[in-house]
Amino acid sequence: MTSDGRRLGLHTSTKLDFEDLVALVNRGLELSRGGSAKSFAGRNVILAFFENSTRTKVSFEVASTHLGMTAINFDITGSSLSKGESVKDTAETLASYDPSLFVVRSKESGLSQLFEDWTGIPTINAGDGEHEHPTQAILDITTLVERFGSLEALGGLRMAIVGDVLHSRVARSLTQLANLCGIEVSFLGPDNMMPKYIFPNVNRHSSFEVERYDVLYLLRIQRERLAHGETLEVNKYRSRFSLTKERAAHLRSEQVIMHPGPVFPGMEIDAPLIDATNSLIRRQTEISIFARMAIVEAVLEGSIGG
Ligand code: CP
Repeated sequence: MTSDGRRLGLHTSTKLDFEDLVALVNRGLELSRGGSAKSFAGRNVILAFFENSTRTKVSFEVASTHLGMTAINFDITGSSLSKGESVKDTAETLASYDPSLFVVRSKESGLSQLFEDWTGIPTINAGDGEHEHPTQAILDITTLVERFGSLEALGGLRMAIVGDVLHSRVARSLTQLANLCGIEVSFLGPDNMMPKYIFPNVNRHSSFEVERYDVLYLLRIQRERLAHGETLEVNKYRSRFSLTKERAAHLRSEQVIMHPGPVFPGMEIDAPLIDATNSLIRRQTEISIFARMAIVEAVLEGSIGG
């Protein structure tokens, strides 16, 4: 959508209300069950990933292709950024190639919003630094709705978000949407991985009693974001916060395991549990295509975001 009643892209999950979430989840699930996709044939999306990605980048590429769009992968490493061209000039240059949409990932917070401000082209945040990863949170809620039957059924569930919450954009976005759904969120992890500020409506626990939660959402330990000189004590972390075989032995069949990926097996979770019957980790990846199709449709139609 444009100037006056404009919504444009999606930068944070705080821009979504419950009705937006209902529409996105229902549409994503409809597409996952074979519903017909809208066609945006003849329109281009530019994927500008300034930080590495496997899942988000490829699933956006597949999603936009299913919508009839041409996906253009902007190769950062081979670009004129290495010659000193600024990110702003890069964005403005890319905007000349007639994209209807940018999908932007960055090490810094706020770059997707800047792309949109510089170019006027709707932009989706594919993860910005330690700030937000709204499309991951939408696909996670979509996966939970598929498992538990409805958005209403998520109300009252207890979700443990376990691990490196401090550095996690996924935790920030997911907590926001979980709150919208009435899910009770708890953060668990070592003190040095807990945020220093207060999240409203979030509990904190310093021990991992798996029986207490309906959803065990494990986070990747972000070694690349550890402060200089900070070390990771794998054995200490494993003994307190990993989903080990021993801890998983206490799980009931209706409890579910989630992880945004990439997984560091033996750290957050023991490798065989990734494919356990109550693990949704593979399903999150599969659903991501349909959730992102729903998001792209909604952004291009101006029905979410801003
Ligand atoms: N979950 C996620 O954002 O994974 P990628 O970094 O592989 O995109």
